[in-house]
Amino acid sequence: MRLLIGSSNPDKVREYRQILAGLDVELVAPSDLDPAPAEPAEDGPSFEENALTKALGYARATGLATLADDSGLEVSALRGAPGVRSRRFFGDRATAAERNAALLALLDGVADRAARFVCVAVLAFPDGRTESFRGECAGAIGVAPRGTNGFGYDPVFVLADGRTMAELPPSEKHRLSHRGRAGQLVRARLTRGW
Ligand code: IMP
Repeated sequence: MRLLIGSSNPDKVREYRQILAGLDVELVAPSDLDPAPAEPAEDGPSFEENALTKALGYARATGLATLADDSGLEVSALRGAPGVRSRRFFGDRATAAERNAALLALLDGVADRAARFVCVAVLAFPDGRTESFRGECAGAIGVAPRGTNGFGYDPVFVLADGRTMAELPPSEKHRLSHRGRAGQLVRARLTRGW
């Protein structure tokens, strides 16, 4: 069986390849296909809707069972922002380092540092069925970036033990991250057959 990891984000594709490793499923990325399908536009109001849009869009374009996720960072003091707009909140062209610096500047002097990562992963099957899986990871926003693993907001996301997500080896990130948690549910679902 082939499963398309419906994402144009190479970091997400890499993480799902690790999280779903060992399953009796051939994982393919959009860039493995010719022609490579374009990422469906996602501008919905929720992680659920955006993940569904991406999974169904890729599945319809390719005829392949597809896993897509919409994910992001919710910061309490910013009333849940950047949330579903995590990729674009600090400007379309900003690098991860620029976004992290902008987030730290916004929270300068703010005592409430609580935050969580959220991931909604949707499986879309070729017959049109969809199933959705949610994972969350609670933490706090630090005062300076630390660590070189992971991607995106990982260097500023501090876990209960004081390490940032970017200081964890990948296997440890996948045990407790939002994507790891959603991905374990996807794994269990795929193990039961399609
Ligand atoms: P989207 O799901 O493609 O809309 O983008 C999600 C955005 O949220 C990413 O571009 C990152 O900025 C952020 N994000 C999602 N998952 C993670 C993660 O595991 N670590 C750090 N940042 C993440």
